[in-house]
Amino acid sequence: MTTELAPVPAPVAAPAERPRIFSGIQPSGVVHLGNDLGAIRNYVRLQSEYEAIYCIVDYHALTSTHDAAVLRVRTREMAAALLALGLDPARCTLFVQSHRPEHTELAWLLATVTPVSWLERTPTYKEKKLQQPDDVNHALLTYPILQAADIVIYKASRVPVGKDQSAHLELSREIVRTFNSRYGDTFPEPRAVFTDAPTVLGTDGVRKMSKSLGNTIEVLADPAVIRKQVMSMVTDTKRILRTDHGRPEVCNVCQLHRFFGPDWEEIQEGERTARTGCVDTKNLLADRIVARYAAARERYLELIAHPAEVDGILEEGADRLRPKAEATMDEVREKMGLR
Ligand code: TYM
Repeated sequence: MTTELAPVPAPVAAPAERPRIFSGIQPSGVVHLGNDLGAIRNYVRLQSEYEAIYCIVDYHALTSTHDAAVLRVRTREMAAALLALGLDPARCTLFVQSHRPEHTELAWLLATVTPVSWLERTPTYKEKKLQQPDDVNHALLTYPILQAADIVIYKASRVPVGKDQSAHLELSREIVRTFNSRYGDTFPEPRAVFTDAPTVLGTDGVRKMSKSLGNTIEVLADPAVIRKQVMSMVTDTKRILRTDHGRPEVCNVCQLHRFFGPDWEEIQEGERTARTGCVDTKNLLADRIVARYAAARERYLELIAHPAEVDGILEEGADRLRPKAEATMDEVREKMGLR
């Protein structure tokens, strides 16, 4: 009698691991249009496709903010803002950098493979030296090493950011390459992921939008504030009279319309032919920005009124990351001879 053996079941495939992404944002007290169009939109979009980790970088903020009460409030406000704009704690991990102190330990270790000359040539360091000449603290210089540590401690390979972070990301890759060649393959080289608005210009129409330059449009502010900021925007400086034809390609207001409705080409045509004036175009942009962010503002105000809810999400995020951060630190200490 022959017995038929039941076919050996195929091994159950482990659920495909989603690639890991990481990004950080400073608790600067303001979420502006540059942050959202350049980065946060991507945080939200990518949280379903990737294993996403998002961090409010309070250690980094200490390079410029020295008031403890202010930092504490801004950190919670940034968390509330990110949640209001669409981060979902069920689909991503949101936490505060200082709640995982392994970041600073790793930064020290990575500093030992980072030549000072790389740090001195970083564009943001040069800018900060000019912006705060009386406070050129050492952490400003080593800032990009901590940023590299933030990313690689979770072995993230993709980093959603705006274009202004390109130099930092390049430095992170150089640090990773040096570490890997000295101690063996340990970290993936992180790559930036940009949106279709990698650099959003400020209300001055010339420099990138930035809190420290005072040229922001604060997306979660009171609608009256948003309107005032939009109405202060510099448009085409050569268009003096209402009847002058405009140049939408150099007008920041026209350019921003791209992100606020399918009719942006029509709007640009209106400017080009002087059918519409700059004030009309600004009013329309202000209306659309206010409308786009109205629900997020409501949610933001609700969250701010329930700080325990926000704090709980942040605490849980940091706890969830503990095993990953500790595992990387064990591996790194071992490889560097600290065991
Ligand atoms: P931060 O806080 O200055 O900005 C947060 C995110 O917003 C993007 N962004 C912009 N994008 C387009 N146009 C603009 N005008 C604009 N302004 C800001 C930034 O590119 C950024 O993605 N160093 C980082 C924080 C950081 C980090 C990290 C980022 C710390 N560790 C690790 C990524 C990975 C910073 O200060 O971003």
